[in-house]
Amino acid sequence: MPRKLSWMALALAFILTVSCRNSKKEPVMTAMKKQPFGTADLYVLANHNGVEAAITNYGGILVSLKVPDRTGAPGDIVLGYDTLDGYIKQSPYFGAIVGRYGNRIAKGRFALNGKEYSLALNDGENSLHGGLKGFDKVMWSARDVSTSQAPALELTYVSKDGEEGYPGTLTSKVTYTLTDANELRIDYAATTDKDTVLNLTNHSYFNLAGEGSGDVLAHEVMLAAGKFTPVNATLIPTGELKDVKGTPFDFTTPTAIGARVNEKDEQLIRGRGYDHNWVLDSGGGSLALAARVYEPKSGRVLEVLTDQPGIQFYIGNFLDGSIKGKGGKVYGHRYGFCLETQHFPDSPNQPAFPSTVLRPGQTLREVTVHKFAVEK
Ligand code: GLA
Repeated sequence: MPRKLSWMALALAFILTVSCRNSKKEPVMTAMKKQPFGTADLYVLANHNGVEAAITNYGGILVSLKVPDRTGAPGDIVLGYDTLDGYIKQSPYFGAIVGRYGNRIAKGRFALNGKEYSLALNDGENSLHGGLKGFDKVMWSARDVSTSQAPALELTYVSKDGEEGYPGTLTSKVTYTLTDANELRIDYAATTDKDTVLNLTNHSYFNLAGEGSGDVLAHEVMLAAGKFTPVNATLIPTGELKDVKGTPFDFTTPTAIGARVNEKDEQLIRGRGYDHNWVLDSGGGSLALAARVYEPKSGRVLEVLTDQPGIQFYIGNFLDGSIKGKGGKVYGHRYGFCLETQHFPDSPNQPAFPSTVLRPGQTLREVTVHKFAVEK
């Protein structure tokens, strides 16, 4: 074949190969990228609609969550730090997986099968969020469990028998999945080799107008809960399930966080604002809408669905401007809100509350879905 012709044949073959490839219209693979994050790793999950979630295996922390606003502009809507160091030095559980026991256990004590267990007191006279070195401060092992449908990250942590005072070797698996329906789904699974108690949750602080952009008081919140668990002066539930009707705790219709937060209500005073567990109408057991939050400036909407019986609605009352977060932004009073799906605080000491006991041979399974949308 003359030289010129053979070149033409080659060029033709190349064009054909390229166009064939394109014509197959293969779906763009949903992506999960791994990058260093101090001595840990950062896993970035992206979907096809511009939503991106970054998670580190240190504490299972959701480091950033970028979601478009009503104009399509992405914004990071969770409080946190740019570096691992920030989380290690000082973090009020920003974005972390909380365990073994999310929220408080009165006086750090509980009895199980007639045996007394005692835990570190790290919140006045109570134990909070798993103790001195809870699941938010340990290194989890990570595995990419993405499918062709969605990127997914599975984190595993084996907590030794007796760790932080809790009985049983507890193996916990937490899987973050980002779907094209704009859902960040968190699946929890746990097994034990001895009877134990646990209450796993995620402690993300959201600000749907963008992290560091101001307080969250204008966010409109709906909680699918006709009752809440009032607390004593140290934020331990009294055991009562109280009707929200006629109180500042009624979020059964969408209400701005700031509308009643400064009322002279004894429960609000004890919590320094909202920092309480709501009793979800669903009763737990199957996935149901627990909360819906709308932020008027950005138009962003967050829906939280869960199969848990309770939700801790905390509005960053302890943030006081002493923390400089991402980009050096100062996180002031009530700059973020948390919706911690959970069993009720202090359940190991409150027999009337849904049980938090896990026994060998059982597998605890829980799921919480964060679904994002925009409203005009
Ligand atoms: C939970 C608690 C709050 C506070 C925060 C962390 O939401 O209920 O009282 O401890 O965690 O600062």
